[in-house]
Amino acid sequence: MNKQAMYESLNGLLADSIVLYQKLHHFHWRVQGEGFFLLHGKFEELYDHFAETTDAIAERILMIGGEPLGTLAQALEHASISEVAMVPPARDMIILVKEDLETFQGRVGQVLELADQEGDRGTANLLDPVNDELDKTLWMLRAFLAA
Ligand SMILES: [Fe+2]
Repeated sequence: MNKQAMYESLNGLLADSIVLYQKLHHFHWRVQGEGFFLLHGKFEELYDHFAETTDAIAERILMIGGEPLGTLAQALEHASISEVAMVPPARDMIILVKEDLETFQGRVGQVLELADQEGDRGTANLLDPVNDELDKTLWMLRAFLAA
């Protein structure tokens, strides 16, 4: 197994997961308008999910002998998802989350491909359900935005 490639790939995913976790909190706190109760709760559900995903990815890196990144500065350096300092309108928050989850799913796909190539079954087993859950969440967000 090309362990270095697996560490780097998983650390990239970890970085995105950490940034998303914080970004979803930001939206959870600052969302306003008629959809407040719905979106406030949905963002919470999603950041709870990313808390678990973050932990699982970091621990997988350790299991295969690597070092998970451990600071917010490192997460920002390696993330493909960017933060937003402003407070977008509620609908724009949903659009941003949808786009970020698409980006995240793209990166999950890359790690899965590498895991298959390297015969890393544990990582593939970890990320398959993450990918399935993203399919479901993205379907819901697209359905919401179609209204
Ligand atoms: Fe809260």
